[in-house]
Amino acid sequence: RRIDWTPMMAEKGGHKHFMHKEIFEQPRAVADTVRGRMLLTEGDVHFEGWNLTPEKVRSLSKITILACGTSWHSGVAGKHMIETLARMPVEVELASEFRYRDPIVESSHLAIAISQSGETADTLAAFKEAKSRGATAMAICNVIGSAMTREAEFSVMTNAGPEIGVASTKAFTTQLVALYLLAVKLGRIRGTLSVQAAQEHLTHLTLIPKMIEDVLKCEPAVKRVAREFMNAQDFLFLGRGPMHPVALEGALKLKEISYIHAEGYAGGEMKHGPIALIDEKMPVVVIAPKQPHVAYEKIIGNIEEVRARGGQVIAVIDEDDAQVGGLANHVIRIPAACALLAPVIATIPLQLLAYHVAEMRGNDVDQPRNLAKSVTVE
Ligand code: G6P
Repeated sequence: RRIDWTPMMAEKGGHKHFMHKEIFEQPRAVADTVRGRMLLTEGDVHFEGWNLTPEKVRSLSKITILACGTSWHSGVAGKHMIETLARMPVEVELASEFRYRDPIVESSHLAIAISQSGETADTLAAFKEAKSRGATAMAICNVIGSAMTREAEFSVMTNAGPEIGVASTKAFTTQLVALYLLAVKLGRIRGTLSVQAAQEHLTHLTLIPKMIEDVLKCEPAVKRVAREFMNAQDFLFLGRGPMHPVALEGALKLKEISYIHAEGYAGGEMKHGPIALIDEKMPVVVIAPKQPHVAYEKIIGNIEEVRARGGQVIAVIDEDDAQVGGLANHVIRIPAACALLAPVIATIPLQLLAYHVAEMRGNDVDQPRNLAKSVTVE
């Protein structure tokens, strides 16, 4: 029997949509971001073409990250990484806001543009603005030769490969990994990380591709949740610390492709507004892997507050968690990564949730209405 494969089907490698293929490519994509850059014995990171002198790096007083959409979320996670490992202050700016005000930029600032395409008009304009005011310009990009890499004095390529689905998946997780490598490098140069500490952080990174493979096995559990809530009107996503950007990204993915209204919130902010929305119909995704510095009982408190109002809790928790599982209505278990890399792992079930809800609702997953892959107009 002949199998009729259209070129489009072949391109999707047997997956129904590019987004699904790209979600499942993440173990490979992330490994490609790391390849050749991790110097485990030296406890250091090598970036091809790195041209910032150690004196320059030590003299930097601030990092300003400029980005839009999903790339802005990776910037928020990157802030946690850089501030923790290199002890430098990091501001994460929405490029569309930064470019239209009179921003404070000094020559001791490093501006980092994060962009999958390297062509987003707002990010490019904000980046040029920061550069013209004297900041050192670095780009974290997926497309070689793109406008942002041409504008940058130095670029870290994410090496995710082409991303076709409009909703960003592997571009996001590879940005997180690139930021982690950068944080380790800055920490070494600035002396906040010893060789041994850097080795430990890099060792965490070596575990990530296999952990992504493992977390992808949660797809059947995620599909059950998707089926149960595919007709919900609203979704709330909660996370604290490095899980806050994961909550933002989970909500963005869902609204982009399923068209369900969703909001991502820092757990502590629930009491300042979103709690008013909670009723028996409201699914609340609580992203709660155990993390140092994030009071676990606070997350449990959030879950109890949702349950007390009849809300439906979907908890994303560590494989071996014995506490939260019993409090939630639905549980998605994920392998436990170190706190700063946990966003890479915890985002993946949320990508799958958005994908399956959208697919079950019959939406055009790869080409959602009103959205463009790259917004090159103002
Ligand atoms: C568009 C895309 C998003 C993306 C954003 C920023 O809105 O639909 O997926 O996150 O642009 O794109 P960039 O290429 O700069 O990362």
